[in-house]
Amino acid sequence: MRVAREYHDRTAHSPYSVRASTHSLDWDVKPFPFKVYTDLPPLALPRDIDPLAVDALAALAAGPSGGVERVTLDDLATLLYYAAGVTKKQTYPGGGEVLFRAAPSTGALYQTEVYVAAGRIEGLEPGLYHFSPGDFALRRLRAGDVRAPLAHAAADEALARRAATIILTAIYWRNTWKYQARGYRHLFWDSGTLLAHLLAVGGALGLAPRLDTGFVDADVNRALGVDAEREAALELVTLGPQGAPAAPVAALEDLRHPYVPLSSSEVDYPLLREIHRASMLHTPDDVRAWREAGRGLGGRPPRPVSPRALVPLPAAREASGRSLGETIQRRGSTRQFGLVPLSAVELATALWSATRSVDADVPTGLVDLYLIVNAVDGVEPGAYHYRPEAHALELLKAGRYRNESAYLCLEQPLGGDAAAVIYFLAPLDRILPAFGDRGYRLANLEAGIAGGRAYLAAYAQGFGASGLTFYDGHVVEFFSPHAAGKDAIFVVALGRAAGSGRVTIGTTPTLSRRPSG
Ligand SMILES: Cc1cc2nc3c(=O)[nH]c(=O)nc-3n(C[C@H](O)[C@H](O)[C@H](O)COP(=O)(O)O)c2cc1C
Repeated sequence: MRVAREYHDRTAHSPYSVRASTHSLDWDVKPFPFKVYTDLPPLALPRDIDPLAVDALAALAAGPSGGVERVTLDDLATLLYYAAGVTKKQTYPGGGEVLFRAAPSTGALYQTEVYVAAGRIEGLEPGLYHFSPGDFALRRLRAGDVRAPLAHAAADEALARRAATIILTAIYWRNTWKYQARGYRHLFWDSGTLLAHLLAVGGALGLAPRLDTGFVDADVNRALGVDAEREAALELVTLGPQGAPAAPVAALEDLRHPYVPLSSSEVDYPLLREIHRASMLHTPDDVRAWREAGRGLGGRPPRPVSPRALVPLPAAREASGRSLGETIQRRGSTRQFGLVPLSAVELATALWSATRSVDADVPTGLVDLYLIVNAVDGVEPGAYHYRPEAHALELLKAGRYRNESAYLCLEQPLGGDAAAVIYFLAPLDRILPAFGDRGYRLANLEAGIAGGRAYLAAYAQGFGASGLTFYDGHVVEFFSPHAAGKDAIFVVALGRAAGSGRVTIGTTPTLSRRPSG
């Protein structure tokens, strides 16, 4: 609790901290964005990806729908592609190339790695695998079913029964190279946007994805064979139908497969390792007690508000006419917004989609959505608080705040040009006493998932979005007194791309695709 608070305050951005920073990017040691094991042969994934014809908004609204009786390797390939695959390529004059992934990620640094503990996937031997988006292949780290030890580590028997568990980790240095210790926040924002895709696609495939945020960190890290000072497990997502529980296995052997170093040298950020260590759980009993302690915190009763101050929003659209597959394929962060309005229903749909609950081991609803509305037809420009239970905006102050919004978003024009900007704030001083330091992971993760969903709802409806960073204290001040005592967690700007559109990236699908229908 103390460590999370200290970490948060010490990594807050302010105009002073940004100007006083002496950090510059050392391009000679920019980390390689792929983890390449040198001793493991690739196991090519099927490239015949399901186009996911389900409407994107319907998929975001549907929740964790289950129903399939079996999970195939094709399902797994589809899930991995739309959550973490390479969807676009940008080449730069001089020969540079960036491979962009399905889900947005701070600075396109892609520190999130994906592993699969397969139990009952047709076409795949039980085992523990690493997913490599670069060559769209799996590499087997361990032969044999590891679901039972994972279920033990997560104190969740379902992990031993369900077909597979996806494990997300982060390699710190990939992000801290640019963002230093503040990068710890990004681990959860970025695994959150990836999870927004994983949950929507998993639901669309009928795999009933369920998120576990509580687990014995050391056990999961050891199962994966990661160097836990550099890479750590963040979240688990369990998929597919229930079956007979996996048989217990003898203790897992230590594992250390060699992989290509990310760069010739790296910088250690002890602050980051300290907050991660402080937020670990040590035994399955700790995991159970931790989950119990946080029960009742989410979905707290809304503060009463005078009905006069509430601006009702139109009901969210149920369909956009764009499939989930096409929406993900087209998604890319908007690099310049035009000063044109969104409609009220477009904004309403993005807010509603962002705030759907997540099937998880802990309650959601920990993070509050504040907004600066610059240009939304039928909604007066001003500062608002979104009330999900009433699907309404609470007006905090009317006015034109484009300048303020750009300023709050670290003086980035995107924050002022957007039609509306969502500021995610969380009452850390209530969350941390209930969940301890691990509550800090939850607040950042929930904002990341909600932000990822807002992105998808925007692209489904034909407009754009961009995640943004911010001046922490100034954001809270701007929304105070309503937001007094809360902390700024994450920002997503929404709007239509300026005439030139998204200039940086051509959409070049890297996979052959099955015709839809
Ligand atoms: C959590 C998060 C924070 C981001 N912050 C910024 C930002 O402050 N400024 C910016 O221009 N883009 C920001 N972005 C956009 C990323 O730079 C972008 O996602 C990345 O370059 C990958 O490109 P793509 O989203 O177009 O695939 C952010 C994205 C995420 C997910």
